[in-house]
Amino acid sequence: MEPFNNDAIISEQSIFRIGEVVSISGREVKIAVDKEKNLPHIFFYGQLIKNVSVGSYLKILNGFEMLIAKIETEFINQDNTQEAVNYEEQGHHIKRVLCASLIGYMSTSGFVKGVKTLPLVGNEAYILNTKEFSSIHRFVQNDDDLTIRLGTLSTDSQIVVSLGVQKLFSSHVGIFGNTGSGKSYTLAQIYHRLFDLFRGNDNFKANSRFLFIDFNGEYSGESVMTGDKKVYKLSTYRPINKIPMSQDSVMDLDTLCIFASATEKTQRPFISRALNLYHWLKDKGGNKDEMQNIFRAMLCKNIKAIFTMEDKSKVEPLLEYIVAIVPPKYDEDGFDVDLRESVSYHETHKYYYLPGDRESAYKRKLSDRDLDGNKNGEFVESTHYYTQAKEYQIPDDFIRFFIDILYLQLVQDVKNSRAQNDHIHPAIEKLKSMVRNISMVLDFKENVDFWDKSNIVVVDLRMANQDTKKMIPLLLCHSAYKQHTQNKDKATPYLNIVIDEAHNILSYQSTRESESWKDYRLEVFEEIIKEGRKFGVFMTIASQRPSDISSTIVSQLHNYFIHRLVNDEDLTKVAKTISYLDRISQESLPILPTGACVVAGQVVEMPLIIQVDKMNNKHKPDNETINLLDYWKV
Ligand SMILES: Nc1ncnc2c1ncn2[C@@H]1O[C@H](COP(=O)(O)OP(=O)(O)OP(=O)(O)O)[C@@H](O)[C@H]1O
Ligand SMILES: [Mg+2]
Repeated sequence: MEPFNNDAIISEQSIFRIGEVVSISGREVKIAVDKEKNLPHIFFYGQLIKNVSVGSYLKILNGFEMLIAKIETEFINQDNTQEAVNYEEQGHHIKRVLCASLIGYMSTSGFVKGVKTLPLVGNEAYILNTKEFSSIHRFVQNDDDLTIRLGTLSTDSQIVVSLGVQKLFSSHVGIFGNTGSGKSYTLAQIYHRLFDLFRGNDNFKANSRFLFIDFNGEYSGESVMTGDKKVYKLSTYRPINKIPMSQDSVMDLDTLCIFASATEKTQRPFISRALNLYHWLKDKGGNKDEMQNIFRAMLCKNIKAIFTMEDKSKVEPLLEYIVAIVPPKYDEDGFDVDLRESVSYHETHKYYYLPGDRESAYKRKLSDRDLDGNKNGEFVESTHYYTQAKEYQIPDDFIRFFIDILYLQLVQDVKNSRAQNDHIHPAIEKLKSMVRNISMVLDFKENVDFWDKSNIVVVDLRMANQDTKKMIPLLLCHSAYKQHTQNKDKATPYLNIVIDEAHNILSYQSTRESESWKDYRLEVFEEIIKEGRKFGVFMTIASQRPSDISSTIVSQLHNYFIHRLVNDEDLTKVAKTISYLDRISQESLPILPTGACVVAGQVVEMPLIIQVDKMNNKHKPDNETINLLDYWKV
């Protein structure tokens, strides 16, 4: 208990009193402000305290109840009392009236949201002191919670806003705002302050992991946020760093589906069958030579089987797939030989035969097993398809080998009418186009440690191409999340995934990819957002366009830092999906200065507008707006 000091209480009450209630209608309370309190600041024991204005709070004393209201509008009224009219100057005839909306009351344990009793006309209204103010925002859960300082109130630079570590970091956080409004800066400030607070703390290092997905290379600088981090600079133009990965973790169904942008219904089961074939080959073959022999034999068997069919529309695509697998054939001058030349098709009678004169074609019909010397399809053995298949070499790159396996699986599936090639083929094409990207950014080896003894990893994707920018975050987030949920008790208990420019991978509108792949991509992140909390996995996302991001994700976030937003669509989305926002905060969004943001959500109880602190140059993200005059002046 604080010592009871009558004088202090009386002086606080007289200084902090700002007026009295003149009308109540529902939750709306009007307060006439005392004339001598019409200044922007008041002095109290040498402290400068901000006077009331729109957006700030006041308390109303009704007997023993202390009611809290937020000021929404302010206007003036003519003071028509006799003495004012008769004896005072013109300017004094004005009465300042505040319109406030009741939001809660103080109980013995602190601020409670909701309206229990209403004030009465004549009740006195006061400015809040600092303690009451922080109680409303409940920055800390209990007294032993740690806080990090983020900035000051935007309306009053005297009031420091520090947020509780527990509430802020055990939550999903969204940072939104137009370009240049300060999102990346705020994000860096939040994590810089956290890493600074726990610098040198071994428990923090051992029990938490932070994964930053950095599309623009803003956080990979040596001291940005913290110097104690592992940076992977990925580039698809010339290799700089590569992410280490074990072969086993790549030969995993989820990973392969991500590489191939494979969709759930048809492509995924297909890739799963091909993966089984790969494992079967590995188990059966033992060493590479043996595997190669088995694979050649399978190829040959399939080529013979293809030519037992006579339906041209079915056979031709399969022959194309065989061409994709077997090594190319060259003639003595080094020119490519078209393998298709080694078989002919009889358009009238509809069958394949070995080239030669058409009259006797039926004697060389590939599918006729009653012909002399073709009991086991021996005719096929002289086609280029077959001879090339016997030359097949397993490529060194195991993903390329897997692509061959996919083609073989496709041949088998189409032959057995288990799959339709136009559904499956795009996945193989995609994987083929990714091979180069994969080899530029991933390094396959055994016993890898992605975290490399650090608990903070920044993956810089600035120099990566679009396909890689989409693939790597999904791959890393998915595998980090999966690993985390599977070894729930053994692994580090806390994982925080931070994605700046999140529209790159969370956007709902995308014309570059198929609908079903988009759904899969979003599902991965939606699952982390929906289920992650139970496993200690949290996400922080920053984006320019909340309206671009899936509503499931935006509405499930626990805390929001909203910078300047001017687009109507974004404002509507924010108003609709974020239930924590009140009218004043919403209306201020289009006019927030750079570095100011509305903080709403569990961490503050009531939304408030803060100005984020400036950071030391070496810690701030690398994203300065270009200073044209530095370049242009002579
Ligand atoms: N709180 C702040 N104090 C001082 N300067 C700031 C603050 N916030 C942002 N800035 C400056 O404003 C500029 C833009 O900030 P920032 O890059 O964080 O914006 P952004 O919202 O991330 O933009 P984009 O969407 O383009 O990435 C930077 O030069 C940054 O240094
Ligand atoms: Mg940014």
